[in-house]
Amino acid sequence: PSLKNTFSYDFFIGAAINGGAINGSDTLALDLIRREFNSITPENIMKWEHIHPFPDKFNFEMPDKYVRLGQKNNMHIVGHTLVWHSQLAEWVAQVNDSASMAGLLTEHITKIVGRYKGKIDSWDVVNEALNEDGSLRESIFKEVLGDHYLELAFRTAAKADPEAQLVYNDYNLTHPEKREGAIRLVKNLQENGVKIDAIGMQGHWNLERPTLEEIETSILAYHKAGVKVLITELDITVLPNPWELEGAEVSQNFEGNKFMNPYPESLPDSVQNQLAERYADIFSLFAKHRDKIDRVTFWGINDGASWLNGWPIKGRTNYPLLFDRNYRPKKAYESIMKLKK
Ligand code: G3I
Repeated sequence: PSLKNTFSYDFFIGAAINGGAINGSDTLALDLIRREFNSITPENIMKWEHIHPFPDKFNFEMPDKYVRLGQKNNMHIVGHTLVWHSQLAEWVAQVNDSASMAGLLTEHITKIVGRYKGKIDSWDVVNEALNEDGSLRESIFKEVLGDHYLELAFRTAAKADPEAQLVYNDYNLTHPEKREGAIRLVKNLQENGVKIDAIGMQGHWNLERPTLEEIETSILAYHKAGVKVLITELDITVLPNPWELEGAEVSQNFEGNKFMNPYPESLPDSVQNQLAERYADIFSLFAKHRDKIDRVTFWGINDGASWLNGWPIKGRTNYPLLFDRNYRPKKAYESIMKLKK
């Protein structure tokens, strides 16, 4: 029994992976990836600052290894991410006329997608382009090219690999205004004859939010807009978000505040159970909508490696994933597996 076998009739089960797993030094992670998952996403190594750090320099060494790992293990391989305002190489900010920027985006996407044509199955083409109110976020791409940079990005990706699944990926896509914005974005592309295949709903969620109803409403809305739904970047934080709780002021004085690192040694059984229940609830919802959902990807393999130990404040001990710091399955893992028994 494994996650990938248990849900083989439902959707791909993916995980974001890092250098250690890719180059084989993190053998425990690698074992888990091979045993439990049938899809991988590179957590960082394909982001612009890594893969295209200078105008004429592309770093393909790690991405090549990443893709080979996926191929060897017969996996659904994801590319993350072509166009994003964050983790961008600094030099891109100096490009300030639209012809050069269009040329640059085209080159960046064509080179990368083209290199992995027929190998990378699904691309996060544009990442996090929306504000919380559903409008388009300011970025160097929007500033220099205008709103149609999205169209350019998707068109170019489709041209470089017509078979790849093309995804718009973002967080908080269960929030009504942002959801409407994402649907407008999809419709815009569709109306202009541009290929977009899926919405990636990043699942950076907590024990209460979003509610099952909010998640379901969103899955149905994206499905109705004519795209597949992917749950990307799934992790359930068990720690309070100081911004939500107390406002920005407290969070700035956060360091050393024990309250903010409530479980430094281990997760109490009561919360362990809550997490298990939460995962079971969302997975039974996903399974119910398996005709609409193509893939569910966890943002990391095990708790120790999760970005949530460092966000929104550094140095907390978080427990958001299915495997613990010793790479052992948690109750949350069992609760998901039990759904199919
Ligand atoms: O590898 C260096 C290390 O050598 C150095 O000592 C250390 C010092 O800060 O930094 C390390 O790099 C960090 C990297 O994670 C690996 O841990 C970067 O500073 C840090 O910025 C980077 O954070 C990543 C973040 O994206 C950057 O925006 C997280 O790992 C990654 O999980 C996160 O993923 C994003 C998705 O791509 C998009 N959606 C949201 C999601 C969470 O923020």
